[in-house]
Amino acid sequence: MSNRCSMQLLVNLLLLALSIGDSWQQLTTEADLDFEEPGFSIGPRIVGGRRARAGQFKHQVSLRHRGQHTCGGSIISRNYVLTAAHCVQFGSNVVPANQLAIQAGSLNLNSHETYVDVAKVNVHPRYNGGGVGYDVAVLRLKSNLNFNANMGSIELARNDPPTNSSVVISGWGAIYHGGPISRELLYIQVLSISRNQCTSRYMRNLPETTMCLLHGANLGACHGDSGGPAVYNNQLVGVASFVLGGCGREAPDGYERVSYLRNWIVANAELGSA
Ligand SMILES: *[C@@H]1O[C@H](CO)[C@@H](O)[C@H](O)[C@H]1NC(C)=O
Repeated sequence: MSNRCSMQLLVNLLLLALSIGDSWQQLTTEADLDFEEPGFSIGPRIVGGRRARAGQFKHQVSLRHRGQHTCGGSIISRNYVLTAAHCVQFGSNVVPANQLAIQAGSLNLNSHETYVDVAKVNVHPRYNGGGVGYDVAVLRLKSNLNFNANMGSIELARNDPPTNSSVVISGWGAIYHGGPISRELLYIQVLSISRNQCTSRYMRNLPETTMCLLHGANLGACHGDSGGPAVYNNQLVGVASFVLGGCGREAPDGYERVSYLRNWIVANAELGSA
């Protein structure tokens, strides 16, 4: 665990050093990710999140590395989960599948109800560290999930959410920068902003594969939310990748674009007919 922490810290320091003016952090529990709402919402937090209801995020899973929650993920079929590449690859080392598992079908991080080991890790071949896109991986599960009212797959979006539309993000990540992770699944609404607005105002070097989801202060994704879902119109539109600056800052969070990466996901998660 401490090895991983220092590795992730190193990665973050490198990123900060390499991207002048664009200070961003990844969102594993070893790094940073923040979510915020678009300024108009009141309530508890993911940072600033509300408590999810049973069945509201059937696709949400907790990714476990050696039993510890490190990231979120989304169920995309009975035996595949989509998460962020940086959740399962540190430097050039891919985490062995036998150190990974997922918890599904529960709002409570410690319910241990449905707990399934990972059989195979498949990182996008163009992933090359943080901040340059292609930050997705698919995980094949050892056994099929039995879908029920609280557990099911989510459809992969073919299009990005429209500019200025409200998108929902969820996770068990830290409830403030440097704070504890949440025991209950939390969610908030964020605003999908245009690529142009994002590059001109927030991140000049926004990767082609990444979208910007804007939120107000004291809202947004945070450490432990990485790999988790962004949903629009009941479809998965994004995968949590990084936060700009720090959790709860009034700035966009970077989410990988499912529309852009869909073909690779479909091919590598054996979603032949999707
Ligand atoms: C989105 O919102 C921004 C800021 O309010 C505005 O400038 C822009 O015109 C809007 N774009 C669309 C497509 O509605």
